[in-house]
Amino acid sequence: MAYAANTQIIRVDAQEPDSEAIALAAQVIHKGGLVAFPTETVYGLGANALDAGALAHIFEAKERPEHDPLIVHIWQSKQLEQIAIDIPEMAYQLADAFWPGPLTLILKKHPNIPRIVTAGNDTVAVRMPAHPIAQALLRQANVPIAAPSANRFSRPSPTTAQHVLGDLEGRVDLVLDGGSTQIGLESTILDITAPIPIVLRPGGLTLEALRPYLPTIAFRPQYIPEDTAAPAPGTLLKHYSPHAELRLFDGEASQVDLAMYEHAQNSLAQQQKVGILARDDEEASKFSGLDVQIVLIGDKHEEMAAALFAGLRTLDTLQVDLILVRAPQQTGLGLALYDRMLRAAEGQIIHTN
Ligand code: TXA
Ligand code: MG
Repeated sequence: MAYAANTQIIRVDAQEPDSEAIALAAQVIHKGGLVAFPTETVYGLGANALDAGALAHIFEAKERPEHDPLIVHIWQSKQLEQIAIDIPEMAYQLADAFWPGPLTLILKKHPNIPRIVTAGNDTVAVRMPAHPIAQALLRQANVPIAAPSANRFSRPSPTTAQHVLGDLEGRVDLVLDGGSTQIGLESTILDITAPIPIVLRPGGLTLEALRPYLPTIAFRPQYIPEDTAAPAPGTLLKHYSPHAELRLFDGEASQVDLAMYEHAQNSLAQQQKVGILARDDEEASKFSGLDVQIVLIGDKHEEMAAALFAGLRTLDTLQVDLILVRAPQQTGLGLALYDRMLRAAEGQIIHTN
């Protein structure tokens, strides 16, 4: 059964959040309800991280399998000791450097944290978001808040309150609408409990930024098919998916242009509706002879990150059957972008050279 709620939406200033709205949201958290709120990465679906009943509602509302653990959000480093044990010195160094911000640390779990948060693992994910609304809510509620992205399971993460409502209206008590999120991709997840620290999910904080602290840090992608019984957290191949099928094209620009054009033409000939996520007008103009739906996502990694999930949702609204997109370079934010696109494509990548 899905969690049923009478969803209330409040518009909140992203820079100076209204204290009455924040007080109401904190009350909902204390009563065991669900609050969707913006972070600098994506919107989160929050519940009291110490209240197992409230946490169960997150899984119901999202239709999320219980083997997928949640991230615990805090507003000050002092709270770390409530959530984790045996915290290594490196955690404090990284917290000093990158919190608040788009970095999630995997640490050893404190016994106080309910097992449902960590999906039975003995590690816990913790992050301190930078968004003023998230900060204000965490401070006012004064309990750690567990929050996955506020989408239905396997859908693209929400970067606006409208996306949250599209997936979760009637399943969340309160939505704090703070406009579009700035980064648009989720946080970078870094496991520092392993003998060699490893990035489990590339995200808003780049590997290049982490390297001065962890010179050997790497991301080795694991893409596990959907029907696998108990995948390691976050390794499912199908994720961030639009309803349409996505095809990712990787290669040198002129060859990609040609391959995308031909693919679009063939699909149109088979009566499919085709959408393109194009970087700019120049890329869009390559399709000018074809009856395709084009959404521009920008040509810088930061722009693409902010526009990707919204673009997928826009093309779904236009009811396309197929979405074509050119792969970004896997440097900086491009690594996270590439990962999200590949998962949205369920691994369907076309190498043109
Ligand atoms: O930017 C973000 O991280 C957003 C905002 C709302 O903070 N949150 C987010 O949460 O993306 P979610 O639930 O959509 O993704 C959390 C992922 C899980 O799917 C899992 O891969 C990983 O975090 N995770 C959580 N706890 C873990 C653990 N103990 N060990 C390994 N991975 C873990
Ligand atoms: Mg998610």
